This record gives sequence, structure tokens and C-alpha cells, in this order.
Amino acid sequence: MLSFSLIIFCITLLINPILCYVPENRMGHNSVIIHNQLLVFGGWKMEPNTSTYEMFYLDLTKPFDSKNQSWDLVLEGYLPVYTYFSAAVVSTLDDDIIYLIGGYRINITTNKKDYSNVVYMYNYSTTKWTTQKVDNVTPRQEIKGIIDNKGTAYIFGGNNFKMGRLYNDMHIFNVSTMIWSKLSINHNLPSPSCAYTATILENGIIVYLGGIEIDKGNYTSRSEVTFSSMKTISLFNTLKSEWSQMNVTGGDDIAPRVFHSSVLTTDGYIILFGGYGRNKKIVSPMLAILDTNKDIYEWTIPSSSDSSPCLYAHTANLYGNYMIVTFGLDMDKQVLNSQIYLLDVTYYTWVTTYTPPPIITKSSSKALAIGLGVGGGVFLAIFVSIGVTFFKRHRRVSILKIPESASII
Ligand SMILES: *[C@@H]1O[C@H](CO)[C@@H](O)[C@H](O)[C@H]1NC(C)=O
Ligand SMILES: *[C@@H]1O[C@H](CO)[C@@H](O)[C@H](O)[C@H]1NC(C)=O
Ligand SMILES: *[C@@H]1O[C@H](CO)[C@@H](O)[C@H](O)[C@H]1NC(C)=O
Ligand SMILES: *[C@@H]1O[C@H](CO)[C@@H](O)[C@H](O)[C@H]1NC(C)=O
Ligand SMILES: *[C@@H]1O[C@H](CO)[C@@H](O)[C@H](O)[C@H]1NC(C)=O
Ligand SMILES: *[C@@H]1O[C@H](CO)[C@@H](O)[C@H](O)[C@H]1NC(C)=O
Ligand SMILES: *[C@@H]1O[C@H](CO)[C@@H](O)[C@H](O)[C@H]1NC(C)=O
Repeated sequence: MLSFSLIIFCITLLINPILCYVPENRMGHNSVIIHNQLLVFGGWKMEPNTSTYEMFYLDLTKPFDSKNQSWDLVLEGYLPVYTYFSAAVVSTLDDDIIYLIGGYRINITTNKKDYSNVVYMYNYSTTKWTTQKVDNVTPRQEIKGIIDNKGTAYIFGGNNFKMGRLYNDMHIFNVSTMIWSKLSINHNLPSPSCAYTATILENGIIVYLGGIEIDKGNYTSRSEVTFSSMKTISLFNTLKSEWSQMNVTGGDDIAPRVFHSSVLTTDGYIILFGGYGRNKKIVSPMLAILDTNKDIYEWTIPSSSDSSPCLYAHTANLYGNYMIVTFGLDMDKQVLNSQIYLLDVTYYTWVTTYTPPPIITKSSSKALAIGLGVGGGVFLAIFVSIGVTFFKRHRRVSILKIPESASII
């Protein structure tokens, strides 16, 4: 009886590729939440060929086991280009639309680098990607995109691999006009950098964390760059178009890193996860929380962080009470990670069972940014503006402050 149902199951698998699609493992991919689906696309496979172009999703309205999740392929949702370490944002003006910006690009036909189009658009209704003609865009890699609730995307600095240069300019992309422009700002500029994460708070401030930087901008080898401090962080005020720096509390304990992720909880805590440190070392702690509700933001380390998996170039998205972590490179095993990791953000505990929250719908309540972070260097990101009728979370977590000597750097 059992083997009979197994055979039926296998036949179903064979004739219906939509069922139980098994994606290839990857790093430097994008993940966004759109219409209660965690949509994954792009990324780098390492071998034998560099990249992937299919798109697939996880239905977040159904329960799943983090070690046995069922992905579905978006049948016609193939990307027009191979891309990794790019940025992706879900439009806050039209929740059917995703913009894919920058990153490393390889032409699918020629298998050669191809930066002829920097912006692509995906329409959830048609399940099709289209090339967007946008003037004055400069190709940048290892960037992270942020979009505010007025439909302006902010793209900071990044790497231009071809030029051997990091940048510290701020570009804005108005998704209603498709106009790309560079802001002229001279005060308090951060160093040219890339591989940071970016998270927009409800008050319109973008918090940049981690990454690498180099004051002079250009480099001939990656070894010339320095890892950005987790103690002095850069903030960009989108309402005033102003940069500022903040010396946060507790930052001595947080190892600098790249290819990490950051997501924002509905009550103003940024969850920093993973990445790798100087000399490609495992970072300590893997998991840290930045409280942005205080005037001077404060880092704390949740007590459960020891059981964190060691990943970089993964992605993380917040949905309901879960931070959902996909793919990336597992530093313990030195292989690409295939499983999903779930952090219950109520207690900061890693769990294996996902129980769907009440369906999150766009309601009349104020828009709230749900961030997705990405693996560090390349950070993809996503912000989904969602009216949330969330359950209030109970924060009974015991948060430990780690001793300063805990830093491995
Ligand atoms: C890599 O891609 C190229 C071009 O698509 C193809 O010709 C080649 O066979 C691929 N190599 C491997 C090892 O799959
Ligand atoms: C994985 O999940 C599927 C259904 O989603 C179930 O049929 C299967 O038995 C599960 N496998 C394991 C190993 O738990
Ligand atoms: C890939 O290269 C081919 C041949 O040069 C070109 O026709 C095509 O437009 C390129 N694709 C993209 C998405 O730019
Ligand atoms: C997305 O596709 C739908 C269905 O074809 C269409 O009505 C809508 O205008 C498209 N949106 C954009 C921004 O092109
Ligand atoms: C984006 O374009 C729209 C339509 O022209 C305009 O109303 C809006 O002010 C623009 N946003 C910014 C930030 O310039
Ligand atoms: C960086 O640029 C400056 C001025 O353009 C040039 O003099 C210098 O040699 C460059 N350094 C590297 C490492 O490319
Ligand atoms: C941060 O601290 C450093 C050294 O302690 C100090 O030089 C710098 O001015 C401070 N920056 C801010 C923005 O307070």
C-alpha cells in the first residue's frame, strides 16, 4: 500500500513539474514576499555554471517543516538574465510589481557579462519579467535596495567591479516615473562601500549595517578594503535627504561582517544574522538585535543565538512571527545550504515548524515596511509595504549582553 502511494506520488511528480519543485541551492539570490508567497530568484550556484534564472516560491499560507518544504516553480517566471548580488524591491505603489536592480549580470544567450539593462520589472499578474528602459543608471553590484511608501527606491553606493571602485553616492529611482537620479549631498557622507544591509524604519530613516569600505574609493584587490564598524553606523534620513552617523551602544561586541542579512520587526528591532568576517572567518555573534526605538540605538545578543546556523549570502525575510532564511553558504559544512531556517522572532528561537499566521492583507492601516535582508555582500533586499493588522508580540525574551571580549575580530 505504501509503495503504491509512493509510485503514484512519483508519477505525479513526473507529470506535474509544478508539484514539489526542487530548486538548486544557491547564494547571492533575491527573495521577496509578495501576495503571501516567498518568491526566490537569481543567485549563484558556484558550479558548474555560475547562475540560475528560474523563479520559485513557497506558499506562506500553509504550514511547512523547515527541513521539508515544498517549493513551487513559477512556470513562465524565468529571469531574462542571470543575476546575483543584485537588489530587488516590491513596489509600494503596486503590490504586483517587483523591480530588480543592478548586481552581477550574465547574458543567458551568450553566457558573457552583460550590463546593458540595469532595471527589470516583474508583474505578478502576468508572471513575466520585462526590461525597463531607465536613463542615467550606473551598474552597481553588492547593493541593497530600499523603497519608501511613496514609491521612491534608494540605492546607495555599491561596487563597480569593472572599474575596481566602491561608491558613496545615493541614487533614487522613482518607480512611478521610472526616473533615476543622483542626490547631491556633501555632508556626513559614509565611506564608499558595498555589501552592507539596509533597513528602512517607520520614521523614514534607512539604517546601513556592515559591509566593506575604502576611503579612496578605488581598489585593485579586495584586501585593500576594510570591514565597516558595527559601532559607528550610517543613517540616511529619506525625509530630509541627509546622512548622519551614530555611535550605537553595545557595538563593540558585534563582529563586522559582509553577506549578512537584516530584517525589521514590526516593533522596531533590526535582526542581524550571519555573514562572514575578516579573513572569511565565522562571525560572532551570528545573531544580534539592534533596538532602534532608543535615541541611541542599542545592540543586544539574544541568548538563543548559539544554535544559529552559520550562513552567508543567504536571504532573510520577515513574515508574521518568523524570520525565514533561505539558501546561502553553510560555513560549518562548506556547502550551499538547501534547507530553510526559521527564527521565531517573539522569543528569538530557531524553530523547525512553520505555522501560518492569519492571512496578512493590505488593509487601510498605515503601511509598514517588512524588510528582507540579504546575504551581505550582495544584498538583496526587499521591502514589502503591508498594512498590518498584526498580533502584538510579547517580548519576554531574556536578552544577554555579551562581554566585549567575545568578539572574534
Ligand atoms: C555552461 O554554460 C555554457 C553556455 O550555456 C554551456 O555551453 C556549457 O556546457 C555549460 N557548462 C557546464 C559544465 O554545464
Ligand atoms: C515532506 O512533506 C510532504 C508533504 O508536504 C510529505 O508527503 C512527506 O512525507 C514529507 N517528508 C518527510 C521526510 O517528512
Ligand atoms: C543577450 O545577448 C544577446 C546577443 O548579444 C542580445 O540579443 C540580448 O538582447 C541579450 N539579452 C539581454 C537580456 O540583454
Ligand atoms: C501587470 O499586468 C496586469 C495584467 O496584464 C496589467 O493590468 C497591469 O497594468 C500590469 N502592471 C504594470 C505596472 O505593467
Ligand atoms: C515621483 O514621481 C511622481 C509622479 O511624477 C511625483 O508625484 C513624485 O513626487 C515623485 N517622487 C519624488 C520623490 O520625486
Ligand atoms: C585610484 O585613483 C587615483 C586617481 O584616479 C589614481 O591616482 C590611483 O592610482 C588609483 N589607485 C588604484 C589602486 O587604482
Ligand atoms: C563616535 O565615536 C568616535 C570615537 O569614540 C568619535 O571620534 C566620533 O566623533 C563619534 N561619532 C559620533 C557621530 O558621535
